[in-house]
Amino acid sequence: MSLTVQDLRAWKSEGRRFAMLTAWDYPVARFLDQAGVPVILVGDTLAENVLGFSTTLPVTMDAMVHHCQAVARGATNALIVGDLPFLSYQVSVEEGVRNAGRYLKEAGAQAVKFEGPLPEFASALTRVGIPVMGHLGLTPQSVHQMGGYRVQGKTEEAALRLIDHARELEEAGVFALVLEGVPRDLALEVTQKLSVPTIGIGAGPDCDGQVLVTTDLIGLSERRLAKFAKAYANVGEDIRRAAEEFRREVEGGLFPDDEHSYH
Ligand code: KIV
Repeated sequence: MSLTVQDLRAWKSEGRRFAMLTAWDYPVARFLDQAGVPVILVGDTLAENVLGFSTTLPVTMDAMVHHCQAVARGATNALIVGDLPFLSYQVSVEEGVRNAGRYLKEAGAQAVKFEGPLPEFASALTRVGIPVMGHLGLTPQSVHQMGGYRVQGKTEEAALRLIDHARELEEAGVFALVLEGVPRDLALEVTQKLSVPTIGIGAGPDCDGQVLVTTDLIGLSERRLAKFAKAYANVGEDIRRAAEEFRREVEGGLFPDDEHSYH
């Protein structure tokens, strides 16, 4: 049995911090699992980081399910959370529950995540036994409404609104809450007020957990890293170097050599 949402609740009361990372395929899911990462998010950032779109908006539910299935085959210990893509839950609660159910029924996830203050949707999910993670602050699916990827909750009014939304989601039964792109003091306040763990990305060091997008973590992102992100490896450069060396060796007749040939 993999880690459960109840374990995460317990970690909050023990003051235990934890990491979450995104994965969209089998090999990366395997390595994250082997590294002891307890929560793997099949994020809708699939759209930008794997499929080459410029926002998360175009990715479909079918594509998310397809990638989640691969992640589930690779990770046996981590809790797998499927991210609900744009328009898979905003039109009606009924449609949202049906799409969320696909993650558990077809894709091997144990929980789902959605963006925004929709407590009635969170309640509908928990009523049918689907564990749900909330996501407040900078919610990329609303990029056009926010006028870009901007830090949220900067005015007192916006901060109070976000705290109210966090409380409403907690009452509706979310087992954890992602806080993205908010001032660290606000993230601290929400973290202190909630009994479920907060997971920060661009929200400072005081959240119960931290999440990064794995292409940022391993240096495979095309774009310049955001202020909050940190590259722990340079896999993009490794791929370029390996491909260049292979190309040169093939062009120069050096590969395959005797060692890499059958006799
Ligand atoms: O899809 C994603 O990668 C996310 C993280 C930024 C939390 O939602």
